[in-house]
Amino acid sequence: MHKHFVIPVFVLFLAAGYLFVGSNTPTAQRLAAPTPEKKKVMPEVVLLAKNAKLGPVTFNHVKHNGGEYSAGGPIACIECHHTAQPAADLVSAPPHKAVWPAGRTTTLTAELFAEDPNKAGVAACRDCHARAGSKPKLLDKMPVFEDLGTGKTTKLTNQLAFHQACDTCHFQIGFRTEGTTAPKSTNCASCHKPVKSKR
Ligand code: HEC
Ligand code: HEC
Ligand code: HEC
Ligand code: HEC
Repeated sequence: MHKHFVIPVFVLFLAAGYLFVGSNTPTAQRLAAPTPEKKKVMPEVVLLAKNAKLGPVTFNHVKHNGGEYSAGGPIACIECHHTAQPAADLVSAPPHKAVWPAGRTTTLTAELFAEDPNKAGVAACRDCHARAGSKPKLLDKMPVFEDLGTGKTTKLTNQLAFHQACDTCHFQIGFRTEGTTAPKSTNCASCHKPVKSKR
């Protein structure tokens, strides 16, 4: 019984290996799938939450990481791109443990990115923190936060992950800096700007 099961799985492995090895051959070009050669670019401004009822969020990436905005010093790439560092470095940053790509040995910085954008290993947040009800592109399932105290798990959808990542810092800035433009978590419209209807 078991023998019959094992063979097809093995064949699958071979097939997967073939696709991988053949990725530079003409046959592979017919496969629409991943195009690793497409050069990654660092966005200057990203329009997020495109489908949110409250309206989209304009996120100025270059001001946040280019040194213009300061959180008591320049903001490091990995403050947001938390998976872009070696697993060993995350030991001191619970609950974070996931790294991408698996087994990476580098830490994302502007320099690392400039050296080789495709090898720097940056993934869009949404490729893991998908919208509620949809499956993430890079993971088998939605990332979760496990509260070790209560045993409760919470799905880290785009909404939760972005809000938490953005708000934690803005809260501190608001606390420290008078007259800051940093959004407030309670003021939804400080980020979500309704699109003006053209009707
Ligand atoms: C710091 C900026 C910021 C503030 C303040 C903020 N949001 Fe968001 N919100 C975001 C971002 C960024 C996303 C996720 C974007 C994405 O997935 O593209 C998001 C996503 C969402 C989503 C999910 C949208 C979807 O369709 O995927 C909802 C709902 C939402 N926010 C509601 C709120 C409400 C309600 C408030 C006020 C209590 C609020 N937000 C305040 C930045 C903000
Ligand atoms: C304040 C948070 C923050 C910081 C700091 C930050 N980023 Fe980002 N970055 C984002 C967000 C949010 C996106 C959009 C993600 C999405 O669309 O899901 C993004 C997108 C990107 C993308 C495009 C990814 C893709 O596949 O679409 C690259 C490349 C990138 N960042 C590189 C960097 C580098 C290099 C640094 C440091 C020099 C950096 N980022 C610092 C939040 C940040
Ligand atoms: C490769 C997948 C992946 C990418 C890309 C990713 N995350 Fe996560 N994220 C996770 C996983 C998995 C967790 C659960 C904790 C862990 O294992 O690190 C998590 C946890 C989080 C948390 C909760 C941490 C806490 O303190 O509870 C936040 C906030 C977050 N991510 C924000 C972001 C933002 C913002 C981006 C993009 C700049 C991003 N993530 C990109 C997989 C990812
Ligand atoms: C590590 C700190 C930090 C993180 C993380 C962060 N911000 Fe900010 N943000 C700032 C600072 C600093 C300012 C500028 C405050 C000032 O100069 O008055 C700012 C300002 C803003 C503003 C108002 C000014 C503008 O550029 O339009 C928006 C909107 C904003 N952030 C959105 C976001 C979103 C969305 C995220 C999450 C994806 C995010 N921020 C994550 C530090 C941060």
